[in-house]
Amino acid sequence: MIHAELPGLRSILVRPGHPDFLDLPWEQELSAWPGATDRSIELPRGLSRHEVQFVSYPGASIYAVKELPEGLAEKEYGLLLEMQSRSLPSVEPVGHALADLGGRRVSMLITRFLDASHPYRVLFLSPGLERYRERLLDAMAGLLVRLHLAGVYWGDCSLSNVLFRRDAGQLGAYLVDAETSEIHESLSDGQRRQDLMIMEDNVGGDLLDISMATRLPDALRPETFGASIRRRYEGLWCEVNREVIVGASERWRIQARVRALNALGFSIQEIKLIATGDQDKLAMRTVVTDRDYHRHRLHDHTGLVAQERQAELMLNEIEEFRARLAQGSRREVPLSVAAFRWLSEAWEPTQRRLGSLVKTEADAAELYCQVLEHKWFMSEAAKADVGLEAALDDYLARFKPKKARSKKAGAANS
Ligand SMILES: Nc1ncnc2c1ncn2[C@@H]1O[C@H](COP(=O)(O)OP(=O)(O)O)[C@@H](O)[C@H]1O
Ligand SMILES: [Mg+2]
Repeated sequence: MIHAELPGLRSILVRPGHPDFLDLPWEQELSAWPGATDRSIELPRGLSRHEVQFVSYPGASIYAVKELPEGLAEKEYGLLLEMQSRSLPSVEPVGHALADLGGRRVSMLITRFLDASHPYRVLFLSPGLERYRERLLDAMAGLLVRLHLAGVYWGDCSLSNVLFRRDAGQLGAYLVDAETSEIHESLSDGQRRQDLMIMEDNVGGDLLDISMATRLPDALRPETFGASIRRRYEGLWCEVNREVIVGASERWRIQARVRALNALGFSIQEIKLIATGDQDKLAMRTVVTDRDYHRHRLHDHTGLVAQERQAELMLNEIEEFRARLAQGSRREVPLSVAAFRWLSEAWEPTQRRLGSLVKTEADAAELYCQVLEHKWFMSEAAKADVGLEAALDDYLARFKPKKARSKKAGAANS
């Protein structure tokens, strides 16, 4: 914590690894920052009660700064920090400051701008919205289930308080506003019901608001949208918390249950087996930690960082790769060996050829997955596996700007 002598700034706390933010115009209202500092940048954002501005520190990151009444930024910072320690998908807290605006004290929350994320208004105003509908519902339901499993009562779940990120054709949802949240050991059914009620109300309001700006497709009706999220939430909640009775000769069911939860992305922390009174039967309960099972696995084997669905697709490809290697050598190939070969023979050459299409770190995995998807479409049409190379050629011919391609071709020829 720095107790600063700068105009307007009373104190500031910043986590290590970030700029010190001392060059920002702390003596000014946040709404005046765009005219007061070159660091200020304009980016799309959701509706909010409080003023939010974005500031850019090239080489580090973009940050969001939110102005709140005194004391509240510190509280929200603490809640976000706790969510991060529970591996929940939320924006990353970076620091908080206390500023004095000519006698009026305000607190400022600093979070890292969530890379490649979109507020719902941007998603809803872009063409092809129908495509996103199902994914949006699943993403919202999945986020609430994860928060509730970790004991987080949100208190203000809405489309404005979520950021969406593309994840291999699906959407990942991240909590952006933790102001009203409470973190408990676990939640009661009443708390969960209350949170769902708030979500339904808010989401209906968000959709009404957007329907003023654009004509929504019939599938997106404000009256039913929240109820659809709730139904998905309930389905997923029951699945995760389901107790399975295992007979003495049915131990395979334990593995099957673990695999089914992993397939939904959940990592398992514990399996509890409890006596039922019937000698031959045990009740199995599973405790899940996060919904990043495939991300962890991909990272362990390749060192790559990807979103959950991207990681799942890439792991499937590594498994295919492994099967081909095993066929070729007529013996089992460990996953770590296949992952290593896949990195050097598939991932790296593809990244080199994607070249200028990859603008941020987040693009690398997303574009790779688009090439994979392109391969499936082409293979389906050809009724045969066309291979990654052919898919990549066709993908680049369609999507890479002409100039970049001819430059590359020229360089390759020289
Ligand atoms: N770290 C961040 N990354 C990207 N966008 C952000 C971030 N923090 C805030 N925003 C944008 O600002 C909007 C308002 O933030 P929010 O915390 O919901 O404010 P309020 O408490 O006033 O409702 C969000 O909907 C989001 O679009
Ligand atoms: Mg908000």
